[in-house]
Amino acid sequence: MPDTEGTSEAKQYYTSVPQKSQNYFLKGSNSLDWGMKNRLGRIFNPISGRTVMLAIDHGYFQGPTTGLERLDVNILPLAPFADTLMLTRGVLRSIIPPETQKSIVLRVSGGTSILKELSNESIAVDIEDAIRLNVSAMAVQVFIGGEHERESIINMTKAVDMGTRYGIPTLAVTAVGKDMVRDAKYFRLATRICAELGAQYVKTYYVPEDFETVTASCPVPIVIAGGKKIPELDALAMAYHAVQQGAAGVDMGRNIFQAESPIAMIKAVRAVVHDNESPEMAFELYNSLRIKKS
Ligand code: R5P
Repeated sequence: MPDTEGTSEAKQYYTSVPQKSQNYFLKGSNSLDWGMKNRLGRIFNPISGRTVMLAIDHGYFQGPTTGLERLDVNILPLAPFADTLMLTRGVLRSIIPPETQKSIVLRVSGGTSILKELSNESIAVDIEDAIRLNVSAMAVQVFIGGEHERESIINMTKAVDMGTRYGIPTLAVTAVGKDMVRDAKYFRLATRICAELGAQYVKTYYVPEDFETVTASCPVPIVIAGGKKIPELDALAMAYHAVQQGAAGVDMGRNIFQAESPIAMIKAVRAVVHDNESPEMAFELYNSLRIKKS
């Protein structure tokens, strides 16, 4: 039976309750469209405002990296503890069960290997495929100061244009050449260029000095890469200092999947990122979980 029109008694308009208008929880993201915000809200936890992205895309230029030789064996057990998986479409289709509830950040730049100049990348995924794979964001490497700086920036702006058309955010990944200085001055430059040119969020490295100036001068959220494997306590301290100094989380790979106990490590990283746990307490958690396992 259809509702009987015109019977005001059967309806409740809450005329005295003004409709709330809410600001979006992520820095610099309030003017984005609904689909873009919805996708970012699947990457970043709206309660903590932060994310633990598990980066497993290293194979796209360096083949079977230590810890990623068998993604089905080594990585699938870690997936439930990540907020987001960052990977290539090859791994997504071949290894990750489509039933997964995890948000996906898809690596869309590529075209080089460790045997050649790494900055010489192109966009290597069609936007249609990103849509088909239902990804929450696309990741593009940007080589500020690198040999192919311009091309890599244009790759990013193309991804931003395509993504904006369909509501898919772009993560700009600031890649640093081997001989370049990794300091706050460099990362202020690199992250700001990415944000100014439209990246919805930016991945960079943590630097112990003045990192807060990097996050302060970047108008969109920043996540940090883990970089080369370091002792677990040091990696937890790095994640802690990064989020306390304004990062919106981590996009961590080797320091999780190369840890002695990767599951214990990702849980400890979560404690630091989402619960503001101190590195020492998170390391205690790591050790207790690691011992329980053995
Ligand atoms: C490297 O280029 C990849 O994009 C990785 O996703 C990135 O470096 C983060 O992984 P890791 O924490 O191992 O540095």
